[in-house]
Amino acid sequence: MIPQNLPVLDGNERRYVLDCLDTNWISSMGKYIPAFEEAFASYCGARYGVACSSGTAALHMVLVALGIGFGDEVIVPDFTLVADANMVILAGAKPVFVDVDIETFCLDPGLVEEKITPKTKAILAVHMYGHPCDMDALKRLAAKHELKLIVDAAQAHGSEYRGSRSNCLGDAACFSFYATKTLTTGEGGMVVTDDPDLAERCRLLRNQGFEGGGRRYWHRVVAFNYRLTNLQAAIGLAQTERAGEKFAAKRRNAEIYRELLAEVPGIRLPQEKEWARSAFWNYTILVEPEFGLSRDQVMEEMSRRGVETRTAFCSLHRQPAYQGDDPRLPDTRGEYPVSDLVSERGLCLPSGVGLSRQDLETVAKVLLACRR
Ligand SMILES: Cc1ncc(COP(=O)(O)O)c(C=O)c1O
Repeated sequence: MIPQNLPVLDGNERRYVLDCLDTNWISSMGKYIPAFEEAFASYCGARYGVACSSGTAALHMVLVALGIGFGDEVIVPDFTLVADANMVILAGAKPVFVDVDIETFCLDPGLVEEKITPKTKAILAVHMYGHPCDMDALKRLAAKHELKLIVDAAQAHGSEYRGSRSNCLGDAACFSFYATKTLTTGEGGMVVTDDPDLAERCRLLRNQGFEGGGRRYWHRVVAFNYRLTNLQAAIGLAQTERAGEKFAAKRRNAEIYRELLAEVPGIRLPQEKEWARSAFWNYTILVEPEFGLSRDQVMEEMSRRGVETRTAFCSLHRQPAYQGDDPRLPDTRGEYPVSDLVSERGLCLPSGVGLSRQDLETVAKVLLACRR
């Protein structure tokens, strides 16, 4: 079976992890945590990195650190992983859904303003599948309405907006290092920011509100345990050392797919805007009716022929968890046609950094053989 997305751990991962074991530093203290934070923040072009236990934890910490809570609203794309809206809800605020752009699958800036109310405190923008959002447009909206711009960069390690990685970050960016991500620590996340106060608040929130050097068991804020372990950070540091290669491998995958699948009737390939360099985390195509089989039928058929794929995310406004009259839940009324379309037709082809040209050719051949 050609896997959809597997990690590649062929750098210093083993050596660094063995160092943790040999020195007994296996928990959330140890040299690999600051080393990973510094290396990854620097790769992103940012001043500070606060490592934590997952991308979801990073989102939660940032929202709380920015003081977003009860009575506040946050703009969230309708097409994304449920973690974005969930963390807004668990921070005490309300997600307000906005539809996405058909070419980038990212928040459509032209639809944001009509959803802004006096309660709106932030825009939570997601660089979907590694393609950056239209950051200039979102920054203009955030400045005009005095909102924070939080970026969910869980899938966007290495992405560039107008020639630079740091242009992708907003007030703070949240990364995931889950096993399928371009860089992984198994489970893990990081908040990346240029704001020293925000970074400090995240550090406090990550660790029960303990202040380093302060009185022990004396807590200034209500906080979490969202710590990353030294073992995970050791893997993360080794992965970050190879970040450039992994980013290049993703882009090479995309180039090969483009070459093999361009002009196939019924298949819509991912687009890349002229201002973007996408990380192409998951190469996600749309299976149009013209293809002759539905997305789900294509998935089944490909699986039968030894190729693992994934569906796109499902529209947030349709999630069972958000239906009902609990006042904490988001308003799920309204139309989100692009989000619905991508949810129904989106198919993530194998996209791992370890795939060979031959693997990709097999994927393309199998996909084309499904056409009716
Ligand atoms: C867009 C997006 N946001 C957030 C997350 C959450 O990251 P984690 O799984 O590390 O909690 C993911 C993970 O897949 C994601 O794709």
